[in-house]
Amino acid sequence: MPQPPKVGAFGLAPMTRPKAKRRCLAVVLAAGEGRRMYSQRPKVLHDLAGRSLLAHTLAAVEAAGADGIAIVVAPGQDEIVGAAKRAAPAAQIFVQSAPLGTAHAVLAAQPAFASFDDILVAFADTPLVMPQTFAKLREALAEAAVAVLGFEAADPQGYGRLILDKGELTEIREDKDLSESQRGLTLCNGGLMAICGAQGPGLLESIGKANAQGEYYLTDIVAKARARGLKVAIVAAQEEEVLGINDRRQLAAAEAVLQGRLRDNAMAAGVTLLDPRRVYLSFDTQFGRDVVVEPDVFFGPGVKVGDGATIRAFSHLLGAEVGAGAIVGPFARLRPGTVLGESVHVGNFVEVKAASLGAGVKANHLAYIGDATIGPGANIGAGAITCNYDGFTKFQTNIGEGAFIGVNAALVAPVSIGAGAYIGSGSVITKDVAADALAVARPRQIEKPFWAKAFRAKHRK
Ligand code: UD1
Ligand code: MG
Repeated sequence: MPQPPKVGAFGLAPMTRPKAKRRCLAVVLAAGEGRRMYSQRPKVLHDLAGRSLLAHTLAAVEAAGADGIAIVVAPGQDEIVGAAKRAAPAAQIFVQSAPLGTAHAVLAAQPAFASFDDILVAFADTPLVMPQTFAKLREALAEAAVAVLGFEAADPQGYGRLILDKGELTEIREDKDLSESQRGLTLCNGGLMAICGAQGPGLLESIGKANAQGEYYLTDIVAKARARGLKVAIVAAQEEEVLGINDRRQLAAAEAVLQGRLRDNAMAAGVTLLDPRRVYLSFDTQFGRDVVVEPDVFFGPGVKVGDGATIRAFSHLLGAEVGAGAIVGPFARLRPGTVLGESVHVGNFVEVKAASLGAGVKANHLAYIGDATIGPGANIGAGAITCNYDGFTKFQTNIGEGAFIGVNAALVAPVSIGAGAYIGSGSVITKDVAADALAVARPRQIEKPFWAKAFRAKHRK
């Protein structure tokens, strides 16, 4: 029985009802051996720009608005399951009993289908697909039962081809099953697709084993849909977006594509990269405005750089925060837990780890600062070292505001240097130093007049 329209809180019927959003399940196929990687690590856990292929794919389908995620793994892939749970805690995991093909893999996730309207199939080894492209695949379902990703391949060998008849897609034929006359076709299948949930399970189940490999091909869904009089749509993608990773060369090629995107994004947001191809970024590198990055700088995951900072050549940063106007490098190393305040200078051959340096701190040459807190304006001399580790435990060093640490000082932690204190060069500091004091902990200098002259005279005889 149709219900009368509900009346809103103010006694008025709503003008338009929000159109029910179609709920979409992303099925991410991660099963597979990745034999050609020659690696101890599962293929989909190899990294691109600081995060795994799998995590990239999961992030893309999430960004494309997937309402649920199902990840399909092979039996015994515990490492992948662990990584998947960390990257997408809400995802459901399904095990494909045997590697019988892509359609078989999608059907492993069938128990999850019921609560969704549509299915989006993604490959974990194809991590460069943009969220917008996934979104376009989904949108295409408004008109079609199945939407596939098509691209023009420079070298189509190995890809399934889109077979058209009068502009209509009739089937996808896998490379191994092509006739001689079809070999030259360059419009290829990107692999990923969107399937309307109402028809999906039936279509998937109808896929038999009738192909050269004795596998259940997901791609056969196109011919099955057409045979039932259903529409199939093609969404265009760039070849570099559908780059699949099977070996280390393809991994490097994908890294190059991703680095290109990350550099472009950084520059578009107001970062100057003197030589973009010589700066390596991570998926999550964050820059303020007017940051300048010189060549040969590596940003590992978890780096944030504030407005107007300069990262000079040959620096390596990982898990570090760089304050506005700071200057890092050349040849600096910032390790996880580094927080540099505003206008800090960290110069050549300085390593910082788990340490916060207050505004205006200068550590310009040859120092190691680990497990430390340094107050604003302090000066760390060349060769100064925080001795933070005794082989078993890490200890803290605190340096007060405006303190001056002379060159080659060894600060044996745990130790505190008071604000404004001076540490004599070459000192080995094992006890706390009071604010504004001078501490010198080295042998006193002795001088013997004319000793050298006498020494030489003796030897010349
Ligand atoms: C697939 C497409 C091909 C397309 C190409 C694009 C099929 C049948 N073919 O071929 O048309 O041009 O991608 O790169 O879909 N997987 C499983 N279980 C299986 C088999 C595969 O989970 O039993 C997973 C793989 O881990 C991988 C994805 O599915 O992530 C694709 O499988 P793959 O063997 O790489 O297919 P292609 O031969 O590349
Ligand atoms: Mg492949």
